[in-house]
Amino acid sequence: MDITVLKEKLTAIMSGQTPSREELAAILALPSPATYLHTIADQIRQERCGDAVLLRGIIEISNICNQSCHYCGLRKENKTLTRYRMGEGEIIDTVKKIQEADISTEVLQSGEDKTDIKWFSSLIRRIRKESDLFITLSLGERSQEDYLTFKDAGADRYLLKHETASQKLFDALRPGSSYSSRRNALLLFKELGFETGTGCMVGLPLQTMEDLADDLLYMKTIEADMIGIGPFIPHHATPLAHHPAGTSDTVLKMVSLTRLLLPKANIPATTSLGVLDRTGRRKALQAGANVVMLDFTPENYRKHYDIYPGKTYVTAEQDQTLPLLLRELENIGRTTGRDQPRN
Ligand code: 5AD
Ligand code: SF4
Repeated sequence: MDITVLKEKLTAIMSGQTPSREELAAILALPSPATYLHTIADQIRQERCGDAVLLRGIIEISNICNQSCHYCGLRKENKTLTRYRMGEGEIIDTVKKIQEADISTEVLQSGEDKTDIKWFSSLIRRIRKESDLFITLSLGERSQEDYLTFKDAGADRYLLKHETASQKLFDALRPGSSYSSRRNALLLFKELGFETGTGCMVGLPLQTMEDLADDLLYMKTIEADMIGIGPFIPHHATPLAHHPAGTSDTVLKMVSLTRLLLPKANIPATTSLGVLDRTGRRKALQAGANVVMLDFTPENYRKHYDIYPGKTYVTAEQDQTLPLLLRELENIGRTTGRDQPRN
């Protein structure tokens, strides 16, 4: 695709036209770095979201998971992992640290651990009472009643990555998980009034550019509010241990195209991208992303939230690297910011 054709296609997307999967796949196949695409995405990010990088504080409250996803180190078959569940007091103390760091959103994340719903709703109520943080949940799939209970208790947002829009890949990589029920959950979040987050991995075995185009079109169709896109990174204790990782160039193109298709979405520069490429998060923030997630999980648990290798290392050194990243961002005119306060 030459630059004139690319410019025409990007202009059409920006004017609201939905591209075909073939057009998106052709853009994803552009030689890297796709400088023009990233520059346009960075401009749209600036016009629609401003220069503030939004920070979120993440607490990995449990690494127990009942699922067997072929890509993930938390899968229940991984017996080498020390499993933990944080207690309510520890979670509340961590919430306070997030508040003290002047961050306006916390994310409670876990594997698919069927934690007692009553315990959960009282935890959410307590966080609402004791802080003014926005509460985001990222707990995997639960029952419809549970989602309703979370909402009633005061949760604001739910993150559930669709992982891949290809049903073939989904079924092969997530035995025991249902493609359609995950999609239904995402629709329900919207109906319930959650800000809804989703996302996918790049570089899964046998994944094609057309599959990635379908990911983009799916996220556009459901008008996701938050979109996390990261590379697949092989974990030694999974069936995909010997499969190559995704590439940061393709992730960056996905980030930029997401910004074009969903100009107002909150798009994190993902930790997994930072694992693959030390400068990955900065590059993403200059290619359409506007959010950074900071890991606040207490030190003694953090190392056990071992989804993919390198993650615990990157989060362990974040206290040193983040001030550097943020200073670098200031040098290019970016600030850090908070969400708009609750009405
Ligand atoms: N590489 C990158 N991301 C992964 N995830 C799980 N396993 C991997 C991996 N090997 C992501 C998935 C999931 C979240 C828990 O982490 O997208 O939603
Ligand atoms: Fe569990 Fe999520 Fe990992 Fe699957 S991706 S094994 S559901 S934590």
